[in-house]
Amino acid sequence: MLDPYKIREEFPILKRKINDHPLIYFDNAATTQKPEQVIEAMKEFYENHNANVHRAIHTLSQESSELYENAHEEVAKFINSGGMEEIIFVRGTTEAINLVAYAWGLRNLKRGDEVLVTLMEHHSNIVPWENLSKINGFQVKYADVNNDGTLNYESFENAISRKTKIVCLSHVSNVTGVISNVKKIAKIAHEYGALVLVDAAQSVPHLPVDVKDLDIDFLAFSGHKMLGPTGIGALYGKREILEEMEPFHGGGSMIREVTFNTITRRCSVSLNDLPWKFEGGTPNICGGVGLMAAVKYLKDVGMENVKRHEADLTEYALRRMKECAKVTIYGPKDVSVKCGILPFNVEGLSSHDVALFLDSYGIMIRSGFHCAQPLHEKLKLKSSARASFYIYNTLEEIDRFAELLKEIE
Ligand SMILES: Cc1ncc(COP(=O)(O)O)c(C=O)c1O
Repeated sequence: MLDPYKIREEFPILKRKINDHPLIYFDNAATTQKPEQVIEAMKEFYENHNANVHRAIHTLSQESSELYENAHEEVAKFINSGGMEEIIFVRGTTEAINLVAYAWGLRNLKRGDEVLVTLMEHHSNIVPWENLSKINGFQVKYADVNNDGTLNYESFENAISRKTKIVCLSHVSNVTGVISNVKKIAKIAHEYGALVLVDAAQSVPHLPVDVKDLDIDFLAFSGHKMLGPTGIGALYGKREILEEMEPFHGGGSMIREVTFNTITRRCSVSLNDLPWKFEGGTPNICGGVGLMAAVKYLKDVGMENVKRHEADLTEYALRRMKECAKVTIYGPKDVSVKCGILPFNVEGLSSHDVALFLDSYGIMIRSGFHCAQPLHEKLKLKSSARASFYIYNTLEEIDRFAELLKEIE
């Protein structure tokens, strides 16, 4: 079992007071706080091992290269991929999806093809496809969402066809916390010959995720939403697909050789091995070290425990929030189909007013569209307030939150 009180001791920021009140951090879907282990690992890297990777034979470069490779290995194991060749470090989920769009989509999608996404996607799983469709002329189709925010599987099955070349969906919605049945979607998509890209920004931090079991082709996630630093995340890709793909960023580190032909007066380029052929330029080495520490931390806690703790918090929050007459909660109420994200509104108040009121008591929540405007339009919401939980949150914090929501009325 997970002990949130013990865990809290390891997060220095949770000792802070905001507006003279103890900090209650319920904006975990946006980014999570960092434990001492992550902060220390990064400090240790800069104090003792800092050097560029893959370039020099000196001791520091050997050490930083080893750490950076180990970080890939840790992430690979965490999602049960085939090894570090399948793990590309990127800035985060947004860059991972853009990498697939431009490194795979630019060459493989053409007029007459379709990309199937869903109406619950974060903008980062919509905009790259809409942008690319303007260059390549394919169509972006949207599977519908039910009124409770769950995916409409019938709409998905009606929308998919032999024209669909890739299905791009979020594993867990960042607005409602709804968990979609990715395994089922992947099976159907593969029957139609389409690839499957999963936006796992809200699932890898909160649930056990096994890419082999899900049988998906790409998985994108961000380190900062899982206790790691900002500016680092990962794209998993099936090895055979990554091998066929051309790189996204050209530059140093991603090539094996660049040779100049004196007759044609052109350079020819041979590419580096996986995953380096996708990591052009000096990478975020310290970010990788921080992400490795975050993954180790979560492994020690146990992802099943993380999931159960969040389900307990969510169930309790749902119960307590129902006592607040003017509060409307959106999304499903069954915690077996969702993660710890609760979108809501308070009658007569804008979501920003609710967030400001709670902030004056030290409670941090999100307000607005949460980068998912199409979903808000579908649910007929101008905006929503969003509380999202993580391993360090407690039932007492939810009590305080619910009492204040009552007071606001
Ligand atoms: C579901 C989902 N996808 C993508 C993103 C984008 O992540 P990042 O900003 O780390 O690239 C987020 C961030 O909120 C998200 O929740």
